[in-house]
Amino acid sequence: MQRICVYPGSFDPVTAGHMDIIGRIVDMFDQVVVGVLNNAQKKTFFSVEQRINFLRQCTSDFDNVEIAYFDGMLVDFASQQNAKFIVRGLRAVSDFEYEFQMASVNKRLRPELETIFLMTRTRHSFLSSSIVRDVGRYGGDLSSMVPNQICKQLQHDLLRQQ
Ligand code: PNS
Repeated sequence: MQRICVYPGSFDPVTAGHMDIIGRIVDMFDQVVVGVLNNAQKKTFFSVEQRINFLRQCTSDFDNVEIAYFDGMLVDFASQQNAKFIVRGLRAVSDFEYEFQMASVNKRLRPELETIFLMTRTRHSFLSSSIVRDVGRYGGDLSSMVPNQICKQLQHDLLRQQ
């Protein structure tokens, strides 16, 4: 029986922190499905196609990673993917309340699904997609904050859309 997890998020855009988590879970699961939220009510800077494209470029070295989008409930997406696990990264105590609420709701909705939390490495604990967008918008150096494969493109896109 395959151990499949979903790693969901907005990924607007994917950061070095996200990649830290992905790089660790590829060894823990047979299949990792990165689920990109595509929700008309949640406005994002990058389109779902751009976010997926960035993720594909950054994960091309992993043969057990798949990128997909979802637009409904996370638990439904996980079931469609035959996943028994949801993975989320925790950066700081401030993440806990929201994550606790989300994991509890998901458990209520689908008790057979387990949410697993991984602590993000401390060197990425300050990092978020919104910080990346903000630094990039003003032309700041993103090289330590985003994966190498997409750094140049992101610097360009964020600066251009200031
Ligand atoms: O990267 P983010 O924005 O913190 O990811 C949040 C995400 C996508 C995991 C969360 O918003 C989500 O699961 N949305 C889908 C809707 C859903 O299932 N809601 C009920 C659980 S709170």
